[in-house]
Amino acid sequence: MFNRPSRLIHLFAVSLTVFVSLQCRQAAPETAPTGYVAESAMVVSARQEASEIGIQILRNGGNAFDAMVATELALAVAYPFAGNLGGGGFMVYRKANGEIGSLDYREKAPLAAHKDMYLDSLGNVIPGMSTVGASGTGVPGTVAGIFAVHERFGTLPIAEIIRPVIDLVEKGVVVTDKQAQRLQNYRQQIIEVNGDNTLFYNECKTGDTLSYPALANTLKRIALHGRDEFYTGETARILARFIQEKGGFVTEEDLAKYQARWRDPIVFTYKDLRIISMSPPSSGGVTMNQILKMMEPFDLEAYGHNSAKAIQLFTEAARRAYADRNFFLGDPDFVEIPLDELLGDSYLSQRMGTFSFDRATSSDAVSHGAVEIIESEETTHYSIVDAQGNAVSVTTTLNGAYGSKLYCDELGFFLNNEMDDFSSKPGTPNMFGLIGAEANSIAPEKRMLSSMTPTIVERDGALWMVVGTPGGSTIITAVTQTILNVYEFGLSMQEAVNAPRFHHQWLPDMITFENEGFSKSLMDSLKVRGYQINEGRTPIIGKVDAIRVLEGGRLEGGADPRGDDKAVGY
Ligand code: GLY
Repeated sequence: MFNRPSRLIHLFAVSLTVFVSLQCRQAAPETAPTGYVAESAMVVSARQEASEIGIQILRNGGNAFDAMVATELALAVAYPFAGNLGGGGFMVYRKANGEIGSLDYREKAPLAAHKDMYLDSLGNVIPGMSTVGASGTGVPGTVAGIFAVHERFGTLPIAEIIRPVIDLVEKGVVVTDKQAQRLQNYRQQIIEVNGDNTLFYNECKTGDTLSYPALANTLKRIALHGRDEFYTGETARILARFIQEKGGFVTEEDLAKYQARWRDPIVFTYKDLRIISMSPPSSGGVTMNQILKMMEPFDLEAYGHNSAKAIQLFTEAARRAYADRNFFLGDPDFVEIPLDELLGDSYLSQRMGTFSFDRATSSDAVSHGAVEIIESEETTHYSIVDAQGNAVSVTTTLNGAYGSKLYCDELGFFLNNEMDDFSSKPGTPNMFGLIGAEANSIAPEKRMLSSMTPTIVERDGALWMVVGTPGGSTIITAVTQTILNVYEFGLSMQEAVNAPRFHHQWLPDMITFENEGFSKSLMDSLKVRGYQINEGRTPIIGKVDAIRVLEGGRLEGGADPRGDDKAVGY
C-alpha cells in the first residue's frame, strides 16, 4: 500500500509516463498481413458455411446488417454448439459514415423468476438447476435481435436473406472433426435431458451430414410471418408448451413481452485508438475499458509480447477490473451502475496505485473470496465488413455448450441455460467461476450479466478492426489481448488471433495460460514475484474472429485455428 506522499509521487510518475509515451508514439509501419486478405468485404465466423452465406448476402446486394441476419441464423444450423435461435447476444456496429451503436438481444429472466429460485430450503445452490435442462432457460432474444437489426438497417427482403439458410438446413451440414468430437463429448448429457428419441441420439462421425428438417419448417414460418412468429405465433405456442412440459419457467406471456434494446455502446480511447464495445448488461465494454485505461500509462510495447512484465501489468489491471465487474455490474434497467466513476481517469489511476512490478497484488487486498474456475469455449462470435465500409461485430450464445442441452425436436433448435449467468447466490461462483453480487441477482424480466465483448476499433478516425470471441469469463481478456497484439506488438491480424493467451479474473487468484507459448522460465519468474499459476489446467482461451482494415482498404481476416473458424470475402 502507498502512503499519501508516495502515492502522489506515483501518480506524478504515471502522468509523466502517459505524457511522454503519448508525445513520443510514432506511427509504426503497418505489419504485413498473414491471414486471408479480401479486396472489399469479409465475414469471419465459426464455420465456413455461415461465413459463405454472409458473403452471399453481400454479393446479392445486401449490406453488413443483412449479412448479420443471415450469418446469425446460419450459425444455428452449422454450429449448434453455440449458434442459436434459442439464445441471445449483442451487436456493436459502425456504419460507413462513422455512426455507431449497439443492440442488446440478451435473454431475460421469465416472469416467474425470483431471487432464490435456484436455492434449496437451506439456501444452498441446487446443483445443475440453472445449467441443465429447461429450468435454466431464459427468454430467448435472438429472433427479436435479427429482426430489430433488419427493421432499422436491412436492405434486402427478409425472406431473401433467410432463403440460403433454409437451403443449408435442407442440404445438411457436413460434420467436421472438431464438431464430431464435441457432439461425442456432450451426447450422453443431451440424451439424459431429451431422451432416446432426440435427433442427437445418433452418433455423428466426421464427414456425416447433419440435417434438421424441423428447423427448416421453423425458419420457413419465420420468413413468412416475421418476428411475431417466434414471439406470439405458432412457434411461440410450441416453444412455451415444450419448455413448461420439461419443467422450465418460460411462458407464452414471457415470449410475447420480449423486446431487444438499442443501447449506447461503451466508447473510450486507448492511446490513439478509439474503442467501441458493448455496454451493460454485458460487462465486456466496461471491463475492457478499465483494463486498457489502467495499462495506458505504461510503455507496454517496450516490455515485449507475452513478456513477464507485460503479463504482470495485464494481470494486475484485469484483477482490479474483474473485482469491480463482479460487484457493480448488472442489468442497467434494474440497477444503478456508477459508470462515470468506474471509468474515470482518477479512479483508475488510484486503483493502480497499489501496483508494483516487484510483487503481485493479492486479490484479497482488492476484495475477498475463493473459488474454483471452470473456463469454457462456448458462445460464438462473428465479424463482418461490407464493401461500403459498414462494420458489424456480434457475439451470440446459448451459454453452455449446446446451452441447457434441451433440444426442441419439434422446432429444431437448442435452448439456452443463460439463467446461470445470474448470481444465483451472491458470493457463489457460476459455471465460469465468476462470483457475482447483488447487482446481478435474479429478478423477473431482468437480463443476466454477460462477458460478451463484440468490439470495433477506430484508428485515426477510420475503421481499423472488428473483433470478438467466445470464452465465458475469458472473453474480455482474449479480446483485449488481441487488440494489444496488433497495436502494441505489431502482429498481423491472423498472428494476433493465433498468439497464445492468458487469463486472470480476480478470483481465483491465479493466472491461467494456454498450453503452448509460455516457457517454464517465464512462469518461474512470475512465481518469484508472488503470482500463482493454474498449473492444473491449460485450456483454450477464446476463439477470436476478427477483421483488420489495411492501409488502402483491403481487409485481413483473423480466423481462429483453435476452431473450424473461417474468413470468407471478395
Ligand atoms: N454466457 C456467457 C456470457 O454471456 O458471457
